[in-house]
Amino acid sequence: MLRLNEKNLCARVTSDEVSRASASYADVLACCQGGEERHAGSLGWLHVDDWASDDTIARIEALSARLREGADTFVLIGVGGSNNASRAALCALGARGGALDGAHRVVYAGNTLSAFELRRVLEDLEGREVVIDCVAKNFETLEPGSSFRLLRQWLVERYGEKDAASRVICCGTPGSHLERLCRAHGYTFTTFPEPVGGRYTALTEVHLLPLAFAGADVRALVAGARAEEALLRDGTADPTTNAAWRYALIRRLAWDAGLRVELLSFFEPRFRWLSKWYEQLFGESEGKDGRGLLPSSAEYSEELHSLGQYVQDGTPQLMETFLDVLEPSAEDSLVLGGSDIDDRFEYLDGVDFWDVNKASFAATRAAHASALPCPTLELDRLDAEHLGRLFYFLMLSCYLSASLLGVNPFDQPGVEAYKNNMYALPGKPGYEDRKAELEARM
Ligand code: PA5
Repeated sequence: MLRLNEKNLCARVTSDEVSRASASYADVLACCQGGEERHAGSLGWLHVDDWASDDTIARIEALSARLREGADTFVLIGVGGSNNASRAALCALGARGGALDGAHRVVYAGNTLSAFELRRVLEDLEGREVVIDCVAKNFETLEPGSSFRLLRQWLVERYGEKDAASRVICCGTPGSHLERLCRAHGYTFTTFPEPVGGRYTALTEVHLLPLAFAGADVRALVAGARAEEALLRDGTADPTTNAAWRYALIRRLAWDAGLRVELLSFFEPRFRWLSKWYEQLFGESEGKDGRGLLPSSAEYSEELHSLGQYVQDGTPQLMETFLDVLEPSAEDSLVLGGSDIDDRFEYLDGVDFWDVNKASFAATRAAHASALPCPTLELDRLDAEHLGRLFYFLMLSCYLSASLLGVNPFDQPGVEAYKNNMYALPGKPGYEDRKAELEARM
């Protein structure tokens, strides 16, 4: 299960206020539950089975089995929503070097223009058997476009034209230039769902393919998401008790109380990339029209010794949402033995790190909650099913939260502004005026 623990909300936002707000914003929830007409082209993710049916999963598993036979390295070329979710899931599931089974790893390109970094990616492919997957919804973004060419050329040099073609997959919009390119050159083409924006693709083949390649249990991931969706659609349930809705309301009340930042904090470093995914999801969805909480994150214990000071005592503009896992896995236990050396830590003899980490979490949350609202998202376990729940829960909360703020959760006009400048400067045809204007400002 995934639960929202509200025990550590503080005076700035209370559970009673959340319940009252649920009634006054009931129309927003009803609208979102019904699938709003004005967002019909972006709500494909809301119904998990539309893009992750058993048939789709079987097809993904078959493709991934073929790829796994001939390759040990899957290069995911994509930026933003096109790479974040699978990276978040693999890290959370405990992948080492991008692999869960020790043999099939996923590495990343298409999210940087740093020559240094891209050289490292190419160096790292030496001696490996490689497939590449270019994920690009509109296939215009410069970062994935340039990396795709670089890696295609590398593949041809390494394997020759024909073998290279069998090692290229592209995930794009049906009918796009990317699809035509695939048909013309014999690459495998997979579908980037049209009614799903990049940051809402966690539970579609955009991410299920790399996850299946790495050996993740994609069926369990999707089952978890379906279970969360069922909670949303349960017509008999009291909406005031829906956790995704209450979390969205807490965020709205925090905004009304003058808070401007939400930290997603955790004591489990496996959530490192999940926090990046969360930052992208909420940042691009909500940060517009001069509104929205800035989504940021804190990885404790490390950042207790840096950000912790600010959180407790700095400008009072934060709420802090903790991510917690209740049950340890077999790998989550490590007992500290006694010591003959008098290091004055004898009170830790025989203590399990799991328990000390939990104590640190409880101590931190109690301290921070004296100053700011600290809701907690609790997962029973950190496995594929619970990650599927978490992905769906946060995407739904984000949609609800943006709707409560009155902003469009599915566009990203700010990102487009930078992208257009980026097209102009390297000289893309059609952007000549913009290029001259930008050069005058440099
Ligand atoms: O969430 C989004 O829509 C964006 O972050 C996109 O995923 C990102 O800009 C990449 O877009 P594309 O796949 O079209 O290159």
